[in-house]
Amino acid sequence: MSQFLDDMIAQAKADKKTIVLPEGNDIRTLKAARSVVDQGIADVIVLGTPEEIAAHGVDLAGITTIDPASAADRDELAAALAERRKNKGMTVEKAQELLNDVLYYGTMMIYCGKADGMVTGAVHATGDVLRPALQIIKTAPGVKNVSSAFVMIVPDCELGDHGRFVFADCAVNDDPDAEKLAQIAVASAATFKALLGGEPRVAMLSYSSYGSAKGHLVDKVQEATRMAKEAAPELQLDGELQLDAAIVPEVGALKAPSSPVAGKANVLVFPSLEAANIGYKLVQRLGKAEAYGPVTQGLAAPVNDLSRGCSAEDIVGVVAITCIQAQAMARA
Ligand code: ACO
Repeated sequence: MSQFLDDMIAQAKADKKTIVLPEGNDIRTLKAARSVVDQGIADVIVLGTPEEIAAHGVDLAGITTIDPASAADRDELAAALAERRKNKGMTVEKAQELLNDVLYYGTMMIYCGKADGMVTGAVHATGDVLRPALQIIKTAPGVKNVSSAFVMIVPDCELGDHGRFVFADCAVNDDPDAEKLAQIAVASAATFKALLGGEPRVAMLSYSSYGSAKGHLVDKVQEATRMAKEAAPELQLDGELQLDAAIVPEVGALKAPSSPVAGKANVLVFPSLEAANIGYKLVQRLGKAEAYGPVTQGLAAPVNDLSRGCSAEDIVGVVAITCIQAQAMARA
């Protein structure tokens, strides 16, 4: 287990939250549930039929399990879902049907205050994990756009925050406009604070530094920088910056000498999903960095997606991260 995850687990234990694990048909999820509860990281609720939960032979003694098909609060959740989505034509009958889907059931548990967060995606695709959260939990106050970030821990590295960075948006918004990019920047700063602690220094990345190149892609990042500064004037945030100008002190001093962020950025906001997704994988694979994510940011309550190749230990880590996000939201 990494130092970062050890820290997350210790923080999660300090103020225990309740996390829904809806994929009770998945053995890694069941093993993770056992481990989370045994370590005292969080209280968990596992969703699934008794048969699918029992099929894997994992001892869930002391852990709450719910079968959405026969749950006591099903009518209450259906009524709440119908009310929440009534402007989209949702009825109680349609809501009852949707609640057969564990992802909708788990999301409604959060919406109705029965859980603080959800971790899922060992079996389901990213879009299916995020859609109920976007439709029902929706964005946090003041946030218009949900996005995602990766925490990157680069070994033997003094750049950023001693090798610790947040990269965004690596998984959700495929072609963010300037407004979305600005929102991603502000949300990523909050993610840095919540998960890594300390002061975020946000660089809005481009292939240009301070107007060294021209073009519509540069214009977009310049506009996003202006909007993010307006939205969060208290943040240390600057752009547009090339990657080297953002994180290497000598290059930052050369290319953007007046910038408060150049050379010492620890939050890197990429201009598109392609750049961000490729960027984090390059650092992970060639730089041998640990990559934690995608961590969803900007929702009113935390819902995090897993890789379908995840291990039970990975799920435990994401549960801890989700608890820290829930703690930070409770403080906000
Ligand atoms: N922020 C806030 N709300 C949003 C966002 C967003 N980024 N995107 C969609 N919504 C809202 C919509 O406004 C809509 O709300 P409404 O129903 O109340 O009007 C609701 O969510 C559903 O919107 P749709 O556009 O119908 O949803 P869609 O089916 O397109 O799903 C999703 C949205 C899930 C985010 C989709 O864009 C997606 O799948 N993104 C890519 C995820 C992915 O596959 N990433 C790569 C893999 S991860 C990795 O490699 C690490």
